[in-house]
Amino acid sequence: MRHPLPKAELHLHIEGTLEPELAFALAERNRIDLPYAGPDELRAAYAFTDLQSFLDLYYQLTAVLLTEQDFTDLADGYLARAAEQGVRHAEIFFDPQAHTGRGVDIGTVIRGLARSLESSRERFGVSTRLILSFLRDLPAEDALKTLADAGPYLDSIAAVGLDSAEVGHPPAKFAEVYAAARAAGLRLVAHAGEEGPPEYITEALDVLGVERIDHGIRCMEDPALVERLVAEQVPLTVCPFSNVRLRCVDTLADHPLPAMLEAGLLVTVNSDDPSYFGGYVEDNVQGLRASLGLSDDQLALLARNSFLASFVDDARRAELLAELDAATGAVRTASAS
Ligand code: ADE
Ligand code: ZN
Repeated sequence: MRHPLPKAELHLHIEGTLEPELAFALAERNRIDLPYAGPDELRAAYAFTDLQSFLDLYYQLTAVLLTEQDFTDLADGYLARAAEQGVRHAEIFFDPQAHTGRGVDIGTVIRGLARSLESSRERFGVSTRLILSFLRDLPAEDALKTLADAGPYLDSIAAVGLDSAEVGHPPAKFAEVYAAARAAGLRLVAHAGEEGPPEYITEALDVLGVERIDHGIRCMEDPALVERLVAEQVPLTVCPFSNVRLRCVDTLADHPLPAMLEAGLLVTVNSDDPSYFGGYVEDNVQGLRASLGLSDDQLALLARNSFLASFVDDARRAELLAELDAATGAVRTASAS
């Protein structure tokens, strides 16, 4: 791997970092039978036709996550890989309802993740935030109950998000829970415009009041929306490998990211569910470079955008931007000599 630029990862589902080897190790530890002979057979099942076909497997494999230690091990595995890929700050989604629906207490999930994250800066050089994500294909009342159940742990949570099957579950369904999350002092993001129409992006901004849009690639179908997103500099957390694997985009060479940058959108590159989609965040960046010929300046802009769009405090942002400036200065010096 070329030396990766320092960057923030802002769109990462911790459950989507469950590598097949860890899934089998946890299955053994927890005496759970997986319906695959081993990691290779499981990997061979990663042939998705759309978002739902992926979600079916993603939820099935959460069965191996039962104890605090399981969640700690999962997050430790991600943070070690992320650090190798240049990630210096990570904002990490988790799906509590994927676990509480199987009888795992929300406290087990949050305590387990928080235990890994609280020493991540010292161990991996990666600062972190946790984003509690609601499953949009479940009733809004379930989301409200989830937020209430997370009450004792809100010190560990920076923001709420909205994920799972998008089409047919517009953002407005979650207006009440987003208002409650805002009142609780949480930041707000939502998946929109991945498989769903551009109108869902507008609704997430206007009805939920989100600060960032996760994916958002379908904004490109609506020039007036693009103009608004540019004017307001709304960050879009784009996930190229995910878009190709879930067939939202045909190939990496067809990805709209260069056009999005050209339009002036505040785009960031992220890995979404790296264990399932063929790579972590720097793999996505290098995939884009190889398929689309992104320049060094474009790669530096993407890294810079990731820090600008993150929820870090001003002091940490300044530190991260200075680190990026030093790294891009080094790239320039190396290519000039
Ligand atoms: N949950 C995990 N990955 C997701 C994605 N790409 N879209 C919606 N929900 C998700
Ligand atoms: Zn996602």
